[in-house]
Parts: sequence; C-alpha cells; structure tokens
Amino acid sequence: IVASFAPKVLAGQQVLVTAGPTFEAIDPVRGITNHSSGKMGFAIARAAQEAGARVTLVAGPVHLPTPEGVRRIDVQSAQQMLEAVERSLPEYGIFIATAAVADWRTANVSEQKLKKDGSGQPPALQFVENPDILATVARTAQAQAGTLYCVGFAAESHDLEANAQAKRLRKQVPLLVGNIGPATFGKDDNALLLIDDHGTTELPHASKRVLAQQLVSEIARRLPDTQR
Ligand code: CTP
Ligand code: CA
Repeated sequence: IVASFAPKVLAGQQVLVTAGPTFEAIDPVRGITNHSSGKMGFAIARAAQEAGARVTLVAGPVHLPTPEGVRRIDVQSAQQMLEAVERSLPEYGIFIATAAVADWRTANVSEQKLKKDGSGQPPALQFVENPDILATVARTAQAQAGTLYCVGFAAESHDLEANAQAKRLRKQVPLLVGNIGPATFGKDDNALLLIDDHGTTELPHASKRVLAQQLVSEIARRLPDTQR
C-alpha cells in the first residue's frame, strides 16, 4: 500500500505505542536488557500515522529513525516507560503495547561501578518485578469504560495460542497479538496470530511493514462504536 493512498481507517484517532526493549541499570556502566529491535512497534506507529491517527511512540533504547509525523518519547527503564505512558494517557483512544519490557529490575541500583572483590564470588544481585504497563493501562477507568482500546503482544516460546489467550484474559485486553514462529527479534518479517473474544485470525508471513498495516486495519475494525 502506498502511503498516500492508504485508507485513513484511523482518521481522528489518537494512538499510543510502546516499543523496543527496556534497560534496567545494575550500576552506572551495566544493566539488563533484551534483544527486542523495536521494529514491529515502529512499523505500527508509522502505519497508524499513515492511517490518519495522531501517534505517540514511547521507545526504549533502540537505534531506529522516528517515523515521519510521529511524536517520540525516549525512555530507558520500565518505570520510565510507565511514567511516560501514564502522563499522556488521557489523550489517547488506542494503546498498543509492543515493548519487550524487562520483567525484573535490580532492587538497588549501585551508585558506583561494582568491582570484583578478589574472592571469586559474584555480587549477590537482588531483583524486583517491574510494573506491568499494559495491565496497568487496561485497568484504568478509560479502558474499562470502553474509551481506550488496548492491544497487547505476546512473546511465547511454546503453546502460542493457549499462552496468548491466557495472557489476554489475565491482562484484560480485548486483543492480543502473538508472534508466530521462533526468533522474530531483529528480523524484518514475521507472522502474527490475533486473538480476541471471537477467536483467532492469522496474518500470514510478510514484512513487518505490511503486517503493521494489516494490524492497523484489524484494530480499526474492532473499535467499539463508541470510539468511531
Ligand atoms: N508488558 C508490559 N509491561 C510489562 C510486561 C509486559 O506492558 N512489565 C506488555 C508487553 O508490552 C506485551 C504484553 O505485556 O504487550 C505481554 O508481554 P509478555 O512479556 O509476553 O508477558 P508477561 O506478562 O511479561 O509474561 P511472561 O513474560 O512471563 O510470559
Ligand atoms: Ca515478559
């Protein structure tokens, strides 16, 4: 689909997208992160913008150009990502959580670089669970009242459909999108499984660009009448 001829299925909508990994510091020089490239989230932000929406992209540390016309907020940690999302949430009607948020952060970030102490013993790092950004958003009055449509992604290594369905119900989101097939991180293509109240829809193997456009149409079709 050529951008200028793309159907404006999200005209008048405000869309908030999270993308990329998060980075959880251990000390001033180290941290925990993951291999999320951010490509799918950036492609979705671009497709939503081209479909007529006003789009904000909250991005973890990735090296990707900002899609044209998209407002970008860069963050590092899961807590910063949650703050950025909550700050701008009231404006939005659609929330799409593609970020691979680190599930844990260190309980205490050391102010100084951790040093080997010569004993051969590694430091005893303690972890705490990060806030679940998607579940937090899905619990807001806006989402519960049906004026904020929430879309989640699922990273699963096995039993995609069952695990993704369970995740959808647990996080109380109307639509959950699963990555079909292994090792999508960093690649330019993918295949997606959409899971909602009515069952599953497969978006067959294609570039992330095309999948993002298809997903945007699928989201637009699913918006409740109150949000059109
Ligand atoms: N997510 C989030 N905040 C978190 C963890 C996940 O917003 N702290 C969002 C992701 O952006 C994704 C969805 O929740 O849209 C599912 O993420 P996933 O990692 O698959 O699920 P988890 O709930 O973290 O469960 P687990 O990793 O144990 O399977
Ligand atoms: Ca996780």
